[in-house]
Amino acid sequence: MNMILGISGSPRENGITAHAIKEILSQSKEDTQYISLFGKHIGGCISCLGCTKDNKCVVEDDFQEIAEAMAQADAIVLGVPNYYDVPNALTHAMLERCFCFRHQGTFSLKDKPIVILSTGYSKDEENSQVLNIVEHFANKNKMKVISKFLVGAFSQCYSCKYGMTCADGNIVKDMNLPRRWALSGFWC
Ligand SMILES: Cc1cc2nc3c(=O)[nH]c(=O)nc-3n(C[C@H](O)[C@H](O)[C@H](O)COP(=O)(O)O)c2cc1C
Repeated sequence: MNMILGISGSPRENGITAHAIKEILSQSKEDTQYISLFGKHIGGCISCLGCTKDNKCVVEDDFQEIAEAMAQADAIVLGVPNYYDVPNALTHAMLERCFCFRHQGTFSLKDKPIVILSTGYSKDEENSQVLNIVEHFANKNKMKVISKFLVGAFSQCYSCKYGMTCADGNIVKDMNLPRRWALSGFWC
């Protein structure tokens, strides 16, 4: 039996990314493992080069268990929230740390299939660089990108409590509400 690893790169435990990854895993006939970056402490690569001998990262934080799971998995499904049209920082830190897998002719993730999805609010999908950036990381690790696609999510303005009255938010902007109504609290 193969093992499919699903990773939600969102810092939120039960957001859209988590749901999307869990839904995909639930459709698999293979064994699955789910990891959320919610609550995880993962720093970016510090370029200590401690991994160059044996492809093992020496920095002790929550990346260690993820590295182990990535190496063990037969395939990976990675969900990445779109923050400012690039991958969110937590996922980006995780991807940077995958530098440890590629030294001296050994690519520990070589040929490992990966499916990449990006969650985001923007209707203007062409602005998003998330999928291309994550695919670039995957290519650098000689992984096999099987599929990449966008998943529609919500703007944070729908749950921040000020969405209808904040003149700088997406709801006012996208619904073409007059800014002066928003500023006056007309909708409250
Ligand atoms: C700091 C921040 C920046 C964001 N920037 C964008 C953006 O540029 N484009 C976009 O479509 N969505 C943007 N969003 C919305 C998120 O992509 C969306 O809420 C997220 O994908 C949902 O994932 P989650 O529910 O799993 O946390 C942003 C959200 C946050 C918190």
